[in-house]
Amino acid sequence: MKILFIIGSSKNGNTTEIISYFKSKLTGDYQIEDLYLSDYPIDFCIGCHNCIMLGEEKCPHYESVKKIEEKILESDITVLSSPGYMFSITGIMKNFLDHVAYNCHRPKYFGKKIFYIGNCTKWQNNSLITPMSTWGSATGFKSAGKLFVDIYPFPLTDKELDTRRKTIEKGVVEFEKNIKNNEIKPDFGSLMVFRAFRTISQLAPGIMKADKQYMEKIGAYNPEKKWFIDVKIPLFKRIMADIIEKSMKKSINSMIDKDRLSSAKSGIFRNKLM
Ligand SMILES: Cc1cc2nc3c(=O)[nH]c(=O)nc-3n(C[C@H](O)[C@H](O)[C@H](O)COP(=O)(O)O)c2cc1C
Repeated sequence: MKILFIIGSSKNGNTTEIISYFKSKLTGDYQIEDLYLSDYPIDFCIGCHNCIMLGEEKCPHYESVKKIEEKILESDITVLSSPGYMFSITGIMKNFLDHVAYNCHRPKYFGKKIFYIGNCTKWQNNSLITPMSTWGSATGFKSAGKLFVDIYPFPLTDKELDTRRKTIEKGVVEFEKNIKNNEIKPDFGSLMVFRAFRTISQLAPGIMKADKQYMEKIGAYNPEKKWFIDVKIPLFKRIMADIIEKSMKKSINSMIDKDRLSSAKSGIFRNKLM
């Protein structure tokens, strides 16, 4: 099994230290690669929306993004790691996620696992993990869990360090247990993401060109299609999703100006307020 660690901080920082300890405690036979985002520079996302609307290859930074996505596709497990900077992930991790956000519309990582490692003060745990885990679950990965270590940039006592070591060891046990579980069970949010993008691409196919092509390819416009891939979905969840999708369609339809839509070129449409 191949594990790719995508690291959103410096090579000599606390995150690297946590990852090194984590790797030293793994018991399985893995092929491991560390990918420091700083070694794969990508210019800032300029918000052109080309990746989402027209296709990822239309991103002006596609060649740089592709190098990382190829590594993810070659791996069985991706570990996203970031320290907390200003109550969130680091800028370099955020910039990476912005460039691969289009995958939330057209998920392609089914069959792969993802794990998250964060480090900052305890109460910021969720605000740090959420951007990474939202991306992971929306893009098709199966979550293998998360590890949170509150390590600081000042000297800690042996006792404190031992507590962190134990936390990481527990994280490794959870990781190695979860990567054996292949069952795909979409949560309700993931079901609704599919329904939302199917609806929007159907109502505005000229603008959401890439989504429309993807949805057509997977047969999404057949009302019998319940999610991106065919998995068992409990009846109650399916009925709820059908009801919400219907009302969502009605509400989006009522928001769209049909004349403006028919004259819109493909790609991003900017509404004018002035
Ligand atoms: C620019 C910057 C912003 C930071 N913001 C936060 C923060 O919002 N919350 C927090 O708990 N720690 C914050 N920290 C501290 C780091 O999260 C902490 O030192 C972490 O262990 C650094 O990991 P690293 O060495 O891998 O970069 C910040 C550090 C830097 C450099």
